[in-house]
Amino acid sequence: MDRYRAQSPLHFHGDSELSDGVVDLAVNVRTMPPPEWLATPIRATLSDLSRYPDQSDARAAVAGRHHRSPEEVLLTAGAAQAFTLIAHAFTPRRPMVVHPQFTEPEAALVAAGHTVARHILVEENGFRLDPAGVPDDADLIVVGNPTNPTSVLHRADAIASLARPGRLLVVDEAFADTIAGEPESLSQRRDIDGLIVIRSLTKTWGLAGLRIGYLLAAPVLIDRLAAHQPLWPVSSPALAAAVACSSPQALAAERAIAAELTVDRDHMLGALSKIPGVRVAGAPASSFVLMRVDGGERVRSRLRDAGYAVRRGSTFPGLGTDWLRIAVRTPSVIDPFIEALASVITGLE
Ligand SMILES: Cc1ncc(COP(=O)(O)O)c(C=O)c1O
Repeated sequence: MDRYRAQSPLHFHGDSELSDGVVDLAVNVRTMPPPEWLATPIRATLSDLSRYPDQSDARAAVAGRHHRSPEEVLLTAGAAQAFTLIAHAFTPRRPMVVHPQFTEPEAALVAAGHTVARHILVEENGFRLDPAGVPDDADLIVVGNPTNPTSVLHRADAIASLARPGRLLVVDEAFADTIAGEPESLSQRRDIDGLIVIRSLTKTWGLAGLRIGYLLAAPVLIDRLAAHQPLWPVSSPALAAAVACSSPQALAAERAIAAELTVDRDHMLGALSKIPGVRVAGAPASSFVLMRVDGGERVRSRLRDAGYAVRRGSTFPGLGTDWLRIAVRTPSVIDPFIEALASVITGLE
């Protein structure tokens, strides 16, 4: 993480847990190299970098993928840029973030001068959203689906029911493509007033360094957000990635990856359930699992000594130091990790 962003716990992210030589279970980005159908068009842009980027093909491709029009798409330098745009484009009186979730939406709102309220979901309820519990006066709500770090998938109708006249409903679907068929995605819904859906292409496709994501919303909201974007915000290689990742081939590959992920996650959950003292939060649906263990901070630090980086839960509002987030990886990575975790926990007793 950049040093100038390190002061607030809201700016802490999984990459800060990493150092040379540790096994990365802290960052929820797939670590496989991009497939050829994706790498080739990205590489092809390198011979033509003297031209300023032209977004038209990428916008049309993303729109087609979600059955929307290009006017409903705003391409961004990763999903992260979307939070900053929202924070600067609108002037909500009572913005509210549903936690625990990715902290950047709140950080961006605070940095833009907003006073942000928090609506905290609790473990007793599986960290699930109860729309009836969300205060009526919130005029901008941010919710993640599936949610990082809880891995909980909220029902689309529960989220949609939060829409109200005069309210912006921001749904961070950065991890929606980790679930085959995206059953609870709102990305195609044009009938929900004030809905802004945020998507990322950096997770499943391992493109965190390339920075590519997008927003889907009504054209009037897109225009307002676009006015706050810097000139040429998305590079030509990132635009090529957006086109490739929107193709039928990409969608089929995405489904296959999501299916493999389910198998790996079930394997991981089975192994975690056998470790006394470990409790997994909710019903994990995405590419990471949130677990609780007494002495979590010491467990994290000893795992690190054993060569494994896991994501601390303490910087997420609503969680504490006993919570740890672990990326789903293949059994060849997870099995030795489970052994290390069991031995660290035994060593603490
Ligand atoms: C829930 C969530 N949303 C958005 C982002 C930002 O993703 P991107 O790499 O597309 O900026 C992250 C990154 O970790 C995330 O966890």
